[in-house]
Amino acid sequence: MEKDLQAIVDEANHLLVSVSNRPEWDNAKALILGPNGKLTQLGKGIGKLTKEERPVFGQKLNHTKKQVENIFKSSLSLIDEKEDLESLGAEIDSSLPPSSNFTGGTHPLTNTRRKIVSIFRKIGFTVAEATEAETEWFCFDALNTPEDHPARDEQDTLFLPRDSKWNNVKQKNDEAYVLRTHTSSVQIRSLINEKPPLRIIAPGRCFRRDTVDATHSANFHQTEGLYVDKNVTLKDLKGVLDFFLKELFGNQVETRLRPSFFPFTEPSFEVDLRAPNIGKLSDQWIEIMGCGMVDPKVLKLVELDPKEWTGFAFGMGIERITMILHGIDDIRHFYNNDLRFLRQFNQSS
Ligand code: PHE
Repeated sequence: MEKDLQAIVDEANHLLVSVSNRPEWDNAKALILGPNGKLTQLGKGIGKLTKEERPVFGQKLNHTKKQVENIFKSSLSLIDEKEDLESLGAEIDSSLPPSSNFTGGTHPLTNTRRKIVSIFRKIGFTVAEATEAETEWFCFDALNTPEDHPARDEQDTLFLPRDSKWNNVKQKNDEAYVLRTHTSSVQIRSLINEKPPLRIIAPGRCFRRDTVDATHSANFHQTEGLYVDKNVTLKDLKGVLDFFLKELFGNQVETRLRPSFFPFTEPSFEVDLRAPNIGKLSDQWIEIMGCGMVDPKVLKLVELDPKEWTGFAFGMGIERITMILHGIDDIRHFYNNDLRFLRQFNQSS
């Protein structure tokens, strides 16, 4: 009987070779799987077997049935496809070039964002997100950025009309809304919503009134980092950033902190790096991000006691990091949607 099962599989395959439309397929199926079909008939023979033989044969029969059903299923999908093409009047033109098998991929900025996030996840940071349309208070005041700071000028920042109903953010009377100029506003939202100890990484979109050129874009991306706990020191900041930059650029990377100024960190630094594996840039120090210890004034503004809590913050441009990693010389490539550029960052292309 086992031989008979294999013979039925062979017969199904054989029959289907010459089947080219649905009625022929139905007939072939009836011959094998129909109520009087060969496989069904063979199944009925189970009654003649001994008690011991029955379960063994039953199992083999089920297996063969599945096998034959699959053979019929794939034959049917070929017939359907052929009939669909015929109904469209389409003929196969074998002189046409093959269609590309490029199924799309992730954008280089997405790749970098994911890399950054996965490195910080390893050391206990979680991802925080907040709104892109932000009140002036979250974007500037709470970050100790005074009214007369140039970032708050109409020339530098995209302000939203005052009557907009951005009701997902806490609105004070007559407060202006801006498209956030940096992700640092997420520091404030996280400190208010979560309370320390806190370790967050906040990737997101930012906006400035910049004239577009090879290194500027009115819309760009940053990643913020914030660590607030008891007894956090500058040594912790340097340790975390060194770890991050080594993971991203390789173990040979050298880093240095250069004194700088940000209204919301004190002291503040620019982080420079030098790495042998970044092409033309490898013999020079390159500025990669801003950072510093959270200014006690910021902690007070979110009602935390600076005697109890200390922290550090850092912020980096995702475009800039991607440009350094891949030797890209013009920021505009990221937004032109030119497949010749984008495909280079995906293995499937
Ligand atoms: N927000 C700063 C910028 O956009 C970067 C920064 C973030 C600096 C956090 C210090 C701490 O330039």
